[in-house]
Amino acid sequence: MTVWLARWLGRLLLVSLWGLSAPASLLRRLGEHIQQFQESSAQGLGLSLGPGAAALPKVGWLEQLLDPFNVSDRRSFLQRYWVNEQHWVGEDGPIFLHLGGEGSLGPGSVMRGHPAALAPAWGALVISLEHRFYGLSIPAGGLEMAQLRFLSSRHALADVVSARLALSRLFNVSSSSPWICFGGSYAGSLAAWARLKFPHLIFASVASSAPVRAVLDFSEYNDVVSRSLMSTAIGGSLECRAAVSAAFAEVERRLRLGGAAQAALRSELSACGTLGSAENQAELLGALQALVGGAVQYDGQAGAPLSVRQLCGLLLGGGGNRSHSTPYCGLRRAVQIVLHSLGQKCLSFSRAETVAQLRSTEPQLSGVGDRQWLYQTCTEFGFWDTDPWHVLSVTQALGSSESALLIRTGSHCLDMAPERPSDSPSLRLGRQNIFQQLQTWLKLAKESQVKGEV
Ligand SMILES: *[C@@H]1O[C@H](CO)[C@@H](O)[C@H](O)[C@H]1NC(C)=O
Ligand SMILES: *[C@@H]1O[C@H](CO)[C@@H](O)[C@H](O)[C@H]1NC(C)=O
Ligand SMILES: *[C@@H]1O[C@H](CO)[C@@H](O)[C@H](O)[C@H]1NC(C)=O
Repeated sequence: MTVWLARWLGRLLLVSLWGLSAPASLLRRLGEHIQQFQESSAQGLGLSLGPGAAALPKVGWLEQLLDPFNVSDRRSFLQRYWVNEQHWVGEDGPIFLHLGGEGSLGPGSVMRGHPAALAPAWGALVISLEHRFYGLSIPAGGLEMAQLRFLSSRHALADVVSARLALSRLFNVSSSSPWICFGGSYAGSLAAWARLKFPHLIFASVASSAPVRAVLDFSEYNDVVSRSLMSTAIGGSLECRAAVSAAFAEVERRLRLGGAAQAALRSELSACGTLGSAENQAELLGALQALVGGAVQYDGQAGAPLSVRQLCGLLLGGGGNRSHSTPYCGLRRAVQIVLHSLGQKCLSFSRAETVAQLRSTEPQLSGVGDRQWLYQTCTEFGFWDTDPWHVLSVTQALGSSESALLIRTGSHCLDMAPERPSDSPSLRLGRQNIFQQLQTWLKLAKESQVKGEV
């Protein structure tokens, strides 16, 4: 049973990490919740910057070729980008190009987070580029299968190249201005690949939590969640990991018993829908694991309902009810907290609903593009079945021009998030290292400008 559980949990966790398993995926909702939270603070920030319209990000549209690899196909689509010019010194100041990944991009992408925070130091122009087929950058024909063949990382990289050239003309960027790509998660991989493939156009890239290796059976995700639950630096412990196991064992036991035990489980976990089918049971387990994976993946991020420290506190009988508490009771409390913060009445899980949502070719204008990302994982990356992203990334330098940095207590893409007073020393140090690396690169860019090499 453990094997069965691990197999299902692994698959569902992974799927939901990428925001694929629509209704059941707590993690996708968590990700969207955190993004919206940070976006809304971003707009606040924009507005609070003063009366000058210059403080507001601008939106623009680029006409891009639908099929950049077929010279006789002249069809095009409009790709959205955002611009923050407020720090730009013009002349040969650097351009920070923040790449979008498998979701929509809002004004926050150029107003908050690491690229925007770094911009004043070098007088950089910050531009973000929404990925084709996500958000509002959807070609005519929508998400039909016939259209999705124009969706891949290769197409996205071709868009980066033509956007880089078009935006240079549009903003009258000097030919000696260095372009630096930024990205987190899949977009981090794109940032790294853009630099590797087009070094004449992209001077350097900062790739955060970038899973640059494609893998079909991604079993290591749970290993990292498990190690994080034991990490004392973020409030975990051996006992905490054992408590999580015990809570899941209890859920599994009740599912197996069926009948009254299963009905009680359903009501205790505030689950909507029925648990009769094996598929729905698997989706429920996936939702619960997403809750644990979400606490790890979004640990310490603004808007996250539960940190690892809080989750461990609950499962180890904190919360003022030590005498009666069991890990299972703690998990119930954790479910309540997460549902409350997401504004959901009950925990939803239904395989049929998930499949119906994935079949819909209606684009989602904000948040994560589930159907498109499922297509990309099917055709390009895998990333299924079995788990955090740094295990597919590069965490050791590959040479003097490709440095790597592992932020030990940092959750997924946390270095890209806006700075907070509660940031850990290792996260601060990590951001400082990125700052220094950029300093070195931009100094190099300056020197080669002087020599006329760029
Ligand atoms: C290239 O585009 C032309 C014109 O749209 C089309 O007829 C042809 O089939 C395309 N080739 C490929 C390989 O997609
Ligand atoms: C573009 O920049 C150059 C200097 O880099 C300047 O001479 C020129 O006037 C600018 N053109 C526009 C349209 O702003
Ligand atoms: C403590 O836990 C028990 C058993 O789970 C429950 O019946 C009781 O209501 C809880 N008390 C508080 C104050 O939460």
